[in-house]
Amino acid sequence: MIYFDNAATTRVKPKQVIDAVVQAMNTMGNSGRGVHDASLDDSRVIFDTRCKLAEFFGAENPKQIAFTSNSTESLNIALKGTLNPGDHVISTELEHNSVLRPLYELEEQGVEVTFIKSNRKGTLDYEDFERNIRPHTKAIVCTHGSNLTGNLVDIQKVGDIAHAHGLIFIVDASQTAGVFPIDVKKMHIDILCFTGHKSMLGPQGTGGIYVREGLTVRPLKSGGSGVQTYLKHHPAEMPTALEAGTLNGHGIAGLRAAVDYLNETGIDVIRQKEQELMQRFYEGVKGIHNIKIYGDFSTMDRCPIVTLNLGDYDSSEVSDELYMIYGICTRPGAHCAPLMHYALGTEKQGAVRFSFSHFNTEEEVDAAIAAMKELTEEE
Ligand code: ALA
Repeated sequence: MIYFDNAATTRVKPKQVIDAVVQAMNTMGNSGRGVHDASLDDSRVIFDTRCKLAEFFGAENPKQIAFTSNSTESLNIALKGTLNPGDHVISTELEHNSVLRPLYELEEQGVEVTFIKSNRKGTLDYEDFERNIRPHTKAIVCTHGSNLTGNLVDIQKVGDIAHAHGLIFIVDASQTAGVFPIDVKKMHIDILCFTGHKSMLGPQGTGGIYVREGLTVRPLKSGGSGVQTYLKHHPAEMPTALEAGTLNGHGIAGLRAAVDYLNETGIDVIRQKEQELMQRFYEGVKGIHNIKIYGDFSTMDRCPIVTLNLGDYDSSEVSDELYMIYGICTRPGAHCAPLMHYALGTEKQGAVRFSFSHFNTEEEVDAAIAAMKELTEEE
């Protein structure tokens, strides 16, 4: 099997991540619920992971990182916990449904939403952010990298605009955390939403949210916290404010090992390898008759994604053939990014997405190029 569906989830995880999860499952109790070693072990791992993530994303205080199950949960907390009826929020057509659907729900409750338009290449005009700011604009929410085209958004530029206008800046780093440097302070990010199972190389069911000190976010959940039991309300201090119920300690242990792996290997090294594989694939398929590639390839500083279609063929048929004949795993169809599909004109056909990991090889890329050539010849 050749796995090129890493934007959905990275399938190959570092051995130390798997070992850490197994070790945790053999030893861990429940964090913050006891004074025995099993419970304390869990508490120590969770606290240490918070510290490592805070450092990884340039946050000063580890307490500002709360654990969630994925970016979707983090984005729901970020949007529903900060926006109120009468507020205006700016977002973009690049977004995934994990941003769009909470925004549509909020729209029904009286929040006004503006989506910055994308062109046919999937890029934005940054001046549109400034142009769309109104007196009641409260926040900007945008992705750092499109899961459909792989195009990056310059979040430093958007963060500067948000900061200059006193807006809350919320970033969806689902496709970029673990492979692109993110510095919440320098980039003026007030809320960063990330998942553990993609480029962070951790287990599924892990993720988190960073909230700038001084910013209060209403929680989605309340319940057991292990502290302040006699309060009627869920504790308001971070990170407990956004963490109700038993945390995924086993997964978090894996995420800690993943952050160690990223730091030891170097995200620059990982990114360079992934971008080289992407470029090799792009160069190999771009000239093939009847292949249409989406996104902006004027720069290779982009998420390691090549999304394409073969003639008018349905993307699911092409993806099926790639798997059934060649054992190549891709994602077809609609990619939970409806506005991006409309902007690219792929809402009916969908698109076949190849997404690379640094664990992939040049030989695998060459096999995929050869497969695409053969499929085109069969046409
Ligand atoms: N959001 C994930 C993807 O793009 C699942 O495939």
